Amino acid sequence: MSAAANSNTDTSANTDTNAATPAGRSNDVSDICIEFDKVLAGYKDFMILNNLSLKVKRGKITLLLGPNGAGKSTVLKTLFGLLTPRQGRVLLDGVDISGSDPKSLLAKGIAFVPQGRNLFPQLTVMENLELGGITLGQKTTRERIPEILKLFPRVSQRINSQASALSGGEQKQLEVGRALLLRPKVLLIDEPSIGLSPIVVQDVFRLLRKLADEGTTVLMVEQNVKSALKMADEAIALESGRLVLHRKADELLADPNIERLFLGGAHAPAAPAPVAA
Ligand SMILES: Nc1ncnc2c1ncn2[C@@H]1O[C@H](COP(=O)(O)OP(=O)(O)O)[C@@H](O)[C@H]1O
Ligand SMILES: [Mg+2]
Repeated sequence: MSAAANSNTDTSANTDTNAATPAGRSNDVSDICIEFDKVLAGYKDFMILNNLSLKVKRGKITLLLGPNGAGKSTVLKTLFGLLTPRQGRVLLDGVDISGSDPKSLLAKGIAFVPQGRNLFPQLTVMENLELGGITLGQKTTRERIPEILKLFPRVSQRINSQASALSGGEQKQLEVGRALLLRPKVLLIDEPSIGLSPIVVQDVFRLLRKLADEGTTVLMVEQNVKSALKMADEAIALESGRLVLHRKADELLADPNIERLFLGGAHAPAAPAPVAA
């Protein structure tokens, strides 16, 4: 077991992922799928991630929480090679992938479902899936499409409909399905629940749970904190591009301070609670 784990300087928060753990659990490299090591990254000269260090465990769902503008989407964009770290390293399975481009990261097994709508709206469901598999070649794509459709019965019934004719939830499911065609080992997903009804959100969350239980590492940004924590394993919170908290999801869910922590920011003063019990 690593005894040199307490290098994190964010003493203001509970960063217990780095703490020594009981027998049987360790922070060996083999548990860790993704690591940010003192990453400085942002847009042009404006740095958003500030010496950010974090670890994401393999085959788990990790939620990325924090107020608007904290840098959550920037983390995903950096992981997917849309931004290049100015300093520090991004590691996948212990291998430095900093500066790799999205195409090579896709080939290494990282898939990204960005926030918002990302389908070709005028194309059919089938055409969207076929394009999603373009890097696989036609034969493999055609072989894999039926397994994807099995996951989404409602979408599969509309295989020849234009993507724009699907409901918001069906479109998000199709986006996730398109990413799954690549059989990614890491799925990055940014605010999938936006614009979806609570029932559809549960469908999406259940699917992510199933994927993680089968071994996929899921890193998800989500504002729907309570329901997301119920199906997640770990929670990481950022504030101003820094890690301010890393805890097990069930422990955070049981924390009586959760409303204060996540209404308006990880260290926000207690807000007048607008959330119904
Ligand atoms: N393309 C961009 N160009 C310049 N600044 C950006 C860009 N995208 C995001 N930012 C800024 O980076 C900061 C973090 O953004 P983001 O990572 O999207 O936050 P979050 O996802 O936590 O809400 C914000 O201040 C935002 O205005
Ligand atoms: Mg965002």
